[in-house]
Amino acid sequence: MSKKTSVYWALALTVLMLASVVAGCGGDKKPAPAAATDIKIGANWELTGGQATFGQSSVNGAKLALKEVNAAGGVIGKKITLVVADNKSEPSESTNAITKLITQDKVVAVLGAVTSSNTLAASPVAHANKIPFVSNTATNPKVTVEDGKVKPFAFRACFIDPFQGTVMANFASKSMKVKTAAIYVDQSSDYAKGLAQFFEEGFVKAGGKVVSKEAYLQKDKDFKSTLTKIKAANPETIFVPGYYEEVGLIVKQARELGYNGPMIGGDGWDSPKLVEIAGKDALKNTFFSNHYAADDKDPAVVKFVADYKKEYNQTPDALAALAFDATMMIVDAIKRANSAEPQKIRDALEQTKGLKVVSGVITLDANHNPVKSAVVIEVKDGQLVFKEKVNP
Ligand code: PHE
Repeated sequence: MSKKTSVYWALALTVLMLASVVAGCGGDKKPAPAAATDIKIGANWELTGGQATFGQSSVNGAKLALKEVNAAGGVIGKKITLVVADNKSEPSESTNAITKLITQDKVVAVLGAVTSSNTLAASPVAHANKIPFVSNTATNPKVTVEDGKVKPFAFRACFIDPFQGTVMANFASKSMKVKTAAIYVDQSSDYAKGLAQFFEEGFVKAGGKVVSKEAYLQKDKDFKSTLTKIKAANPETIFVPGYYEEVGLIVKQARELGYNGPMIGGDGWDSPKLVEIAGKDALKNTFFSNHYAADDKDPAVVKFVADYKKEYNQTPDALAALAFDATMMIVDAIKRANSAEPQKIRDALEQTKGLKVVSGVITLDANHNPVKSAVVIEVKDGQLVFKEKVNP
């Protein structure tokens, strides 16, 4: 052998050895047959921590959707399995959860997260790995568009906060006919900060005046000194963009201080825990915007509520409904792509049109956002009661 040829052979051998290392030296291991035929979808949701009811409802909604899809034979001849990861209601844990789903579990698409901050924290991992994700409920505009650029692998099943903020601003000024408002915002949430801004813009535009602006942080427990300050500014209503854990305490403590005016908020109020924390008397005269109302007479809602109650023995909240819908968006994309390759799912997701789901009909705009109506909910005797529907 010439020196040149032996170098060539040594090199070829090294390449071969390396290739077998990369392949996991698994030449003799047979792949598990179930895993090879199933399509795996990941779920990055808030199962524990301060937003735990959000994630728990979402898992229920997604599982119900997949039960129906799989019972009908699955999609492109395959069954879908859901791999669930808990992001513990923390952005850093959300980054970990999606990393595990993509690199370890090898999912082809991801559902979640619920909140905007947790979804924003997961997004770079999805993009680095080119895996599409669909958040059921993250409403901050930045989830799909940042610096004027659409994020190619980011999608959602819900409306966005400029719309939601306007809905509540108009509800305050037109339906409640109030002229002054205070804003008490969860400063640790991208969602709440955005919603506060959009509400203020809408309220001022409608002729209202914001007489007090205060902030709190997640996990705070005592809101009384700030609420005393807010009460002193004499607002006709208090807008509280935040999540149920803190909102429940804020409403309770505001009433204890003798503030009896209407208190209003956004979708983050939607939890069975809200009534548990605040108590139904304190929640008298409170209203919030949401994606869906369980007492809506729409046939799709009626069927979903009945199926969900049969499965879980409880009334589905908006998180469950939108998780059902987000799951259907992925299933629909796989069907139209006729493939479970992440890139092809992404391309098909972008073309989502006229998809009939529980919360309405989903057609994605150029920014990967559905254009959908919102509902205003009144908390009456501890029950969430449909008040009005607002179209975009
Ligand atoms: N919209 C909230 C967010 O973006 C999440 C949420 C949606 C919470 C619906 C409850 C109900 O953070």
